[in-house]
Amino acid sequence: MNTEIRIVGTGSYLPEKVLTNFDLEKIVDTSDKWIRERTGIKERRIAAEYQATSDLGTEAALRALKMAGISPAEIDLIVVSTITPDMFFPSTACFIQKNIGAKNAAAFDVMAACSGFLYGLATVEGLVRGGRYKKVLLVASETLSKITDWEDRGTCVLLADGAGACVVVPDKEKHLLSYNLGASGEFGHLLYMPAGGSRLPASVETVKNKKHCLKMKGNELFKIAVRVLAEAGMKAIQEAGIKPEDISLFIPHQANWRIMKACARRIGIPEDKVFITIHKYGNTSASTIPIALDEAVREGRIKEGDLILLDAFGGGLTWGACVIRW
Ligand code: COA
Repeated sequence: MNTEIRIVGTGSYLPEKVLTNFDLEKIVDTSDKWIRERTGIKERRIAAEYQATSDLGTEAALRALKMAGISPAEIDLIVVSTITPDMFFPSTACFIQKNIGAKNAAAFDVMAACSGFLYGLATVEGLVRGGRYKKVLLVASETLSKITDWEDRGTCVLLADGAGACVVVPDKEKHLLSYNLGASGEFGHLLYMPAGGSRLPASVETVKNKKHCLKMKGNELFKIAVRVLAEAGMKAIQEAGIKPEDISLFIPHQANWRIMKACARRIGIPEDKVFITIHKYGNTSASTIPIALDEAVREGRIKEGDLILLDAFGGGLTWGACVIRW
């Protein structure tokens, strides 16, 4: 019986437009040196005006399907993780379903901010193991630039756009060795977008006061992020019945290089096993992990049988980690 799950294809898409730290120096009071030293970011990608989240996700999805050798019509479920949907509804998953022609698929979105890919993977795992879905497309796609306050130097230097995807199928062998998810709603105010929902519907006032932009208390989040990421990562390793030294590649959420480094140190993973994309792509929320995963696979950094640790933290607050035997 195929009661386990396996990732058989990965894909990613980054918009063409590159925004460097030097470009940002012209927009806000910041410097390339400050951004590089405090975050590890040198440049990031920004979606074109005409590109919505589903457009990025569609490209990533098609690349993952190509690697998997599976056609859109074979896909029976599409799950999309995003906090920047094309619109409230229809879901971004439905737009991607239409774009790729996956006419036999159910489709819905999952929202867990930067932990979205791991929440999505856990959702897919349950549905595939339940036996009902056999060829699933999991996409994370974000256009954070569309909810960025370009006058707030505390956030605009971090946020970026991009999409990652993977194809999940049932398998005999156990590949997802462990996972854990968590949330702490009392810290929601540290990272959120105040308006546009039922609490504060869109109005002239909300637009004027930039309440449709992402708000973040960066340094408060920083401390929680290191602790929570390390705890989730260690729990996943322990539950997989392995040791930190068994991990071949650690792919943490790419929010800040200093957070990733501190977290790897706490878990006991050397820096050369941490896969980094933040220098070129910034923080793309739910997309950072699947983008990095795809790059690592295509660069040959992940080989069959390797043990991979994925570890994320973000708005909600939410977090999650998993160990995968590739
Ligand atoms: N350029 C120059 N100076 C900046 C700046 C920028 N882009 N952003 C903030 N500063 C200034 C601050 O105003 C402050 O100045 P002051 O000391 O005169 O008041 C100083 O730099 C230090 O600010 P602080 O916020 O304490 O910096 P930091 O070292 O914590 O770095 C972040 C800021 C946002 C990079 C960092 O806190 C971070 O990455 N936090 C976590 C982000 C995160 O995980 N997000 C959510 C997860 S998805």
